[in-house]
Order: sequence, then structure tokens, then C-alpha cells
Amino acid sequence: MNTMKHRRHLLATGLVFLLGTALAPAAPVAENWDNHCAKCHGADGKGQTKVGKKLKLRDYTDAKVQAELKDEDMIKAIADGVFDAAGKEKMKAYKDELSAAEIKELGAHIRKFKP
Ligand code: HEC
Repeated sequence: MNTMKHRRHLLATGLVFLLGTALAPAAPVAENWDNHCAKCHGADGKGQTKVGKKLKLRDYTDAKVQAELKDEDMIKAIADGVFDAAGKEKMKAYKDELSAAEIKELGAHIRKFKP
């Protein structure tokens, strides 16, 4: 077995991977919403999906709900997830899959559901 060749191959693979991660453009916020959030919160933010109804999600098109939500709390919920009093996960944390900028954009995106 040619270890030199093998090592070089590994190195190249690592490099391609690193470059790919660094150069991959952040997904547009609407795309992130559709891919990660809409299945629960709904494409329209109303939370009227099968899962959303079960979880009793808030309606982001409701002005009262919007008034109750604070930007920093929304960003924290998206980044760190949401847990109930017993520590059971209600919504998972997204900080490992989405950048801080993407999370901030999603917070702003939720504001756009306001009537
Ligand atoms: C598995 C279903 C699910 C997915 C997917 C999901 N959420 Fe949630 N989300 C929840 C639940 C459940 C809560 C907690 C509601 C509560 O406290 O009663 C929540 C809460 C939130 C909150 C805090 C404000 C509130 O309504 O209580 C924000 C902001 C939020 N989600 C945004 C997002 C964003 C952005 C995404 C996509 C990156 C996302 N969620 C994906 C289920 C989900």
C-alpha cells in the first residue's frame, strides 16, 4: 500500500471539504424558513401545521403575539432551542446548522408575518 498517496488523498479531501464549507453561500432567509421552520411554524407563520397545532404554536401573524415577542428572546429560541419546565426539548437548537447571521435574519423574517 502506498501510504504517501493515501495521505495526499486524505489531505485533498479535507481541503475540498473546508473550502466547500467556507465558500458555501448562506441560504436566503426564505429558503431557511421553508427548509427548517415551516413544517412546524407554517410557511405563513401561523403555526397551523399538523405539528404546529399539536404543539399549540403561536400565530406570528397576530399583532398581539408579535408585541409579546422580544427580538433577543426569538434569537435565543432559534439558536439555543426551547425547553419546557421539565427540561424536555420543545424545539431544537439551530446554532449548529445556521450561522448567527442566518438566525438573526430568521428573527427579522418572523417580524414580516406581522399584519
Ligand atoms: C419541531 C417543530 C419546530 C420547528 C421545526 C421549529 N420550531 Fe420554533 N418552536 C417550536 C416550539 C414547540 C416552540 C415553543 C412554543 C412554546 O413555548 O409554547 C417554538 C418556539 C419558537 C420561537 C420562540 C417564540 C415562540 O413562538 O414561542 C421562535 C422565535 C421560533 N420557534 C422560531 C423558529 C425558527 C426560526 C425555526 C427554524 C429555524 C423553528 N422555530 C423551527 C417548534 C418548532
